[in-house]
Amino acid sequence: MTVRTAPVFNDNPFKLGIFSPNCSGGLAVTKVPERWNNSWENNLRLAQMADEAGLEFLLPIARWIGYGGATNFHGSVLETVTWAAGLLAQTKNINVFSTIHTAFNHPVVVAKQLATMDNMSNGRAGLNVVCGWNKPEYDALGMTMPDDHETRYRFGQEWFDIVRKLWTETGPFDWDGEFYQLRDTYSLPLPKTDKVPIFNAAGSQQGRDFAVRNADYLFTPAIDLDRSREEIATIKEQAAGVGRNVGLFTLSYVVCRPTRKEAEEYHHYYSQENADWEAVDNIINLMFAHAESFPKEVIRLLRDRMAGGHGGYPLVGDPDTVADGIQRLYETGFAGTTLAFVDYVEEFPYFRDEVLPRLEDRGLRLPVAGAA
Ligand SMILES: Cc1cc2nc3c(=O)[nH]c(=O)nc-3n(C[C@H](O)[C@H](O)[C@H](O)COP(=O)(O)O)c2cc1C
Repeated sequence: MTVRTAPVFNDNPFKLGIFSPNCSGGLAVTKVPERWNNSWENNLRLAQMADEAGLEFLLPIARWIGYGGATNFHGSVLETVTWAAGLLAQTKNINVFSTIHTAFNHPVVVAKQLATMDNMSNGRAGLNVVCGWNKPEYDALGMTMPDDHETRYRFGQEWFDIVRKLWTETGPFDWDGEFYQLRDTYSLPLPKTDKVPIFNAAGSQQGRDFAVRNADYLFTPAIDLDRSREEIATIKEQAAGVGRNVGLFTLSYVVCRPTRKEAEEYHHYYSQENADWEAVDNIINLMFAHAESFPKEVIRLLRDRMAGGHGGYPLVGDPDTVADGIQRLYETGFAGTTLAFVDYVEEFPYFRDEVLPRLEDRGLRLPVAGAA
């Protein structure tokens, strides 16, 4: 088997990815007419631009029903495995992740889907594991969501143990677990890489423990950077305690314009004057009830950031200001961030041309050929 290192494990000091282009609205909960149209054509154009610009990864959201409001934010969503397969076939270097809900997808099927994509793409598939929080989605699938985090993550652990075993065993095995009993199961071919990159995003203690045991990168929101610095140290220490190295990623959104004033005015226009506040409040209420991805004590104070970019870190300003913001994330200890734009295809080229060279000048990114 050819062993290839996944792009997200390259030598770039600070990694960059694109988040949520498969969902209508992307991450901006806004009514402006130019809000993100998640058509396949737009996704393909964006993926190819990000690939050529040397970004490490594309990350989709797995969403089964929208959040309502005037725009039904995330009401239209390209399914993540089929989306990833299509994009991997038409890109060259970038990691394309699938986001998988453990409860909604059988582990033997997922192990084979990811291994197939990894072979199709010469080792560029990635897996983002989601252990569940959004009750209306369980209802839409006719399933009961376990109320407690313990059960959700215990299930997620068994699910992931099966996937991991299928990715390394070449012969059939039996599995006698709490949730799955499998006879003579196996999955060939194995993935092309010896290490398919694993992402996870969780804020609860059970979720953090899951990430420490299983993920290569854990996502955590950057709300207060001093708090993030402590959080990063704690997680790294916990991971070291079990002999693992876990990197921390965050999520950001970008409004980059030639002047700070233009960027701030546009930010205000789409995320304040034209926010879809009903959808914003639906997201916040659902997260408050069932998820701990954002700390409960601050989530209701995050309305503005939810409208601007789903609670991401705002990178708003001229190219220097945006590069400064990214540098602050790097200095806080983050290994990378995802990016999102109101209209990704329209706005990404300016970021690529103006911000990426500044990040190279500051040593945060290597020239495209050097990172591989
Ligand atoms: C970068 C990122 C990606 C996520 N992707 C999804 C997703 O696609 N689908 C989903 O239902 N939840 C998604 N989540 C939510 C988390 O995976 C997780 O389910 C949530 O934080 C609740 O877990 P917790 O209660 O342990 O914090 C995402 C969160 C982040 C920060």
